[in-house]
Amino acid sequence: MSAKKRIVILISGRGSNMQALAEADIAQAEIVAVISNRADAAGLLWAAQHGLTTEAISHHDYPGREAFDAALIKHIDAYQPDLVVLAGFMRILTPEFCRHYTDRLINIHPSLLPAFTGLHTHQRALDSGCRVAGCTIHFVTAELDCGPIIAQGVVPVLNGDTADTLAQRVLKIEHQLLPKAVADFVAGNLVVEGNRVKNLADAVTDNVACLKN
Ligand code: GAR
Repeated sequence: MSAKKRIVILISGRGSNMQALAEADIAQAEIVAVISNRADAAGLLWAAQHGLTTEAISHHDYPGREAFDAALIKHIDAYQPDLVVLAGFMRILTPEFCRHYTDRLINIHPSLLPAFTGLHTHQRALDSGCRVAGCTIHFVTAELDCGPIIAQGVVPVLNGDTADTLAQRVLKIEHQLLPKAVADFVAGNLVVEGNRVKNLADAVTDNVACLKN
């Protein structure tokens, strides 16, 4: 059997997606470190309590974005990761950082990209009158929230929704989608072709969907 793929997860806060990924206990994956730019991130405590290696590297300790990202690369690379997962890592990354991890850096974003890149995605979806909302998992490129899309999950926007109620509904599918995307990555099912990700495991399903249409 081939060696497990080594995964480093970056978080900034609660860490519920990191938790979902850890609890999925993907057979071919090993979470080798959880790193946060905030020492007080709740997710860091959870990770430590569950036997994961944790590190806090504060961006405040560096003179700028380039210096912080360079340090972050050094810390991450010490774990020799096959995959780096941004799971609520609330920092804009330098092009150098993105390039360094080309095709092995993925992000979960709480909107149906390419709509609503950046922040306040749920309020913006409500303000735009969207009937559906959701989340996107994508490979990271230098352009913010714009890399090849691996998976998307959709939920309805309901009458009376607030940004909070919508966020809760979207978060539930984030927790399902992220472990599945990581499982597909470590299984070698994801092939990046330009801006499109071909999922070899979905090939049959894709064909069936085409026939139905
Ligand atoms: C998640 O909703 C994730 O999609 C979002 O932050 C939240 C983190 O929650 N990420 C972004 O907004 C990235 N631009 P968590 O810490 O409980 O996983």
